[in-house]
Amino acid sequence: MSAKVKIAIVGTGGISHAHMRPYASFDDVEIVGAADIVPGKARKFLDTYGLEKAPAFENVYDLIKNVEMDGASVCTYNTTHAECAIALLEAGIHVLCEKPMSFTLAEAAAMLRASRKAKKMLTIGFQPRYSYMRQKVDKMIQDGAIGKVYYIQSGGGRRRGIPGGTFVVKDWAGFGCLGDIGCYSIDECLHAVRYPKPLTVSAMATNYFGKNPKYFEGAATFDVDDFSVALVRLEGDTTFVFKQSWAMHADTLGDTLWLGTEGGIKIRNGFDELQRPSHVMYFTDVNGMQVDSQVLPSRPFDAYSFPEEADPFHQKIRAFVDAVISNGPEPIPASEIIYNQAICDGIYRSAKLGREVEIVMPEI
Ligand SMILES: NC(=O)c1ccc[n+]([C@@H]2O[C@H](COP(=O)([O-])OP(=O)(O)OC[C@H]3O[C@@H](n4cnc5c(N)ncnc54)[C@H](O)[C@@H]3O)[C@@H](O)[C@H]2O)c1
Repeated sequence: MSAKVKIAIVGTGGISHAHMRPYASFDDVEIVGAADIVPGKARKFLDTYGLEKAPAFENVYDLIKNVEMDGASVCTYNTTHAECAIALLEAGIHVLCEKPMSFTLAEAAAMLRASRKAKKMLTIGFQPRYSYMRQKVDKMIQDGAIGKVYYIQSGGGRRRGIPGGTFVVKDWAGFGCLGDIGCYSIDECLHAVRYPKPLTVSAMATNYFGKNPKYFEGAATFDVDDFSVALVRLEGDTTFVFKQSWAMHADTLGDTLWLGTEGGIKIRNGFDELQRPSHVMYFTDVNGMQVDSQVLPSRPFDAYSFPEEADPFHQKIRAFVDAVISNGPEPIPASEIIYNQAICDGIYRSAKLGREVEIVMPEI
C-alpha cells in the first residue's frame, strides 16, 4: 500500500459529510475521488473540501474504472447500497457501507458473498458501537453480568421525527423508520448478546403520521413505514421485542431492557440521538437481597462530552482506515450485520403478509 490510504466516496448527500470530515482530518488518508448520480453533485462536494484536483463521476463504475483506491465509503440511499458495494468489492476495494446494510436480505447476502469472494472487507457504519457507555454495557452483558439472557426489548422512539428527503420514498429508502433508526435499535439490543440467529418474526407496521398532512408536509408522496413493532424468536430460547417510531403521541416507547437469569440491565428510553447514555440501571440479587444500581462512568468526561476523537462518527471512520491499513478484520463485520438485515427483512415481509414469517438465512 502507498504511504497514504486512498479513499473514495460514493453518494455525496447528507451523511457523506460525516465521512469526509474525519477522512480529511487524517494525515494518512488521501481522498482520490467521489461519485454521485446527480450530475455535478460529487464535483461540488469535493470542491467544498478544497479537493479540486480529485476527479468526480456520475456513477460508481466510472469511478472504479478511472481511479485507483484502497477503500471506499458507500453513502448512497439504502436501495443502492448493494449495487455500489458489490461493484467496489468485485474491483478489489474495501468497503465501509452506511447502515442499513441493504434493503432486502437477498441483497445483503450478495454483498457478503462478494466480500468473501474478493477477500475484501465489508463493514457496516453503525457508529453507536463506538459510544463509550454502549461499549461498557455490551461488555457487562457479554461478560455474563446478567447470566443467560432470555428476553430483550428495544426502547426509545421519536415523538415527532420524520426526516423527509430520500428517507420517505420507498424506491430510494426501501423501508422508512425501520431502516433509518430501527436497525440501530436492533444493533443496540443484539450486539450485546453477540447476535443470535433470528428464527421467526411476527410484525406490524403503520404510517398514520407520515401519510397525514397534519403531521408531515410531504404526506402526498410518503410511502414507507413510520412505526413498526415485532416479536422475534432468536436461537437459544431468547425473545426480542422490537419497536420503533418516527412519530407518535407519546414521549417514548419505553426502556431498552435485557433480562437474564442472574440480573437485568435497563437503559431508560434507550440511548439518545447523540449516542449518549440515558440512565443505565443494573438489577441483581446479592445474598438474598434485591439490589438496584445505577451504572455511571468512572470518568464522566468520557461519556458525556465529545472531543473530536471520542465522537462515534470520527471513530467509525478511523476504525475503517486502520482496518484497511491492516487488511482487516472488519470493525463491524457484515457477517454479523446480516442478522440485523434478516430481522428488518422479516419485519417488512411479516407486516406486509399480516402473519408470522420464518427467517431462512441464504447460503453465502
Ligand atoms: N450513520 C448515520 O448516522 C446515518 C445518518 C444519515 C443517513 N445514513 C445512511 O446513509 C445513507 C444515505 O443517507 P443520506 O442522508 O446521505 O441520503 P441523501 O439522499 O442525502 O444522499 C444519498 C446520495 O446518494 C446518491 N446516490 C444514490 N444512488 C447512487 C448510486 N447508485 N451511485 C452514486 N450515488 C448515488 C444520491 O444522489 C444522493 O446524493 C442511507 O443509507 C442512510 O440510512 C446514516
